[in-house]
Amino acid sequence: MSPSTFKGHILNDHIKGSVKWSSPSNIALTKYWGKHGHQLPRNSSVSFTLSTAKTITQVSFESKEKPSSDINLSFEFEGQLNAAFAQRIIRFLEKNKEALPYIDAFEWHISSENTFPHSSGIASSASAMSCLIMALIDIERHYLGHELSNEEALQRASYLSRLASGSACRSVYPLAAEWGHNDDIKGSSDLFALPVGPQLHADFQTYHDDILIVSSHEKSVSSSAGHQLMEGNPFRDVRFSQANTNTARMMDILKGGDIENFIDIVEEEALTLHALMMTSRPSYVLMEPNSLAVINEIRDFRKKNNVPISFTLDAGPNVHILYPEAFAQICKSFINEQLIPLSTGMVISDQLGQGPVKLDI
Ligand code: PMV
Repeated sequence: MSPSTFKGHILNDHIKGSVKWSSPSNIALTKYWGKHGHQLPRNSSVSFTLSTAKTITQVSFESKEKPSSDINLSFEFEGQLNAAFAQRIIRFLEKNKEALPYIDAFEWHISSENTFPHSSGIASSASAMSCLIMALIDIERHYLGHELSNEEALQRASYLSRLASGSACRSVYPLAAEWGHNDDIKGSSDLFALPVGPQLHADFQTYHDDILIVSSHEKSVSSSAGHQLMEGNPFRDVRFSQANTNTARMMDILKGGDIENFIDIVEEEALTLHALMMTSRPSYVLMEPNSLAVINEIRDFRKKNNVPISFTLDAGPNVHILYPEAFAQICKSFINEQLIPLSTGMVISDQLGQGPVKLDI
């Protein structure tokens, strides 16, 4: 069955229900930056699925009294009605009504919160969108008779999450996921992510990601504007090919446990992402002076102490500090003593996680 197909029944009886899910954020090791068509990536990417940084969403629905083709939805974020978020979700649902043909049969109320602070500057679209989709698919399976195996349900979740926010498609799988067609990666697709967890080397399964909040200011370019800028970037072709090479190599590294090469690629990808923003027109500098100071400290510490600590960045100034469990103690002391003073003082200690989870209401 294609992941876009809904094979359930839109019941005539009056029904109502509620489901609650949590879904994590993910951190890209090789970066998706550039898209085309209907949320299709220009290159493949691979990420770790996180555990602490997540969204919790409850979706309640009830049959409409009078049928209409309007999408009726209210959205509450952290206890407050949020019309702007509601509009964003309605736009996404309108655009994808074909895959979600039951959406206008019900009134929807969505209430959502993040486990990471509002002021952390961490983008929440991957966790928020994958969480909403997991809840919708749960409703399809349990109330609307959509028969899907667990594997099919996750693939559909990944497919729909991608349509809502590209990188969200990688959050539905435990531990790690790859997204984007790559000639060297069997089963890879532009349409949905590929689970990497089952093949992940033991040393990566317990990897840490401490997110150091260097600045909590809003970023000056949205990711959709950033993706668009890649179309005119003079380095685009060489970048897309580099990203595919790095993603295929990273897949082998993740299976084989080669931490030295992991560090080379993960840092190259982070710095390349920022270099691409700096070389777009208009150009953006999204790192802060302290982002660079932190990067230099990490590299010095690694060299002097022979500790396999490394960094990556999203499209913003905050630094994700990556290290294996075996070095957790020494890395945490280093972060507390030398890096926290270069930050806002906020660090979110995260680790690889098991993906979305259904919660009791
Ligand atoms: O999913 P989007 O459109 O928010 O783009 C995410 C882009 C990066 O986080 C910078 C890279 C990635 O692969 O997650």
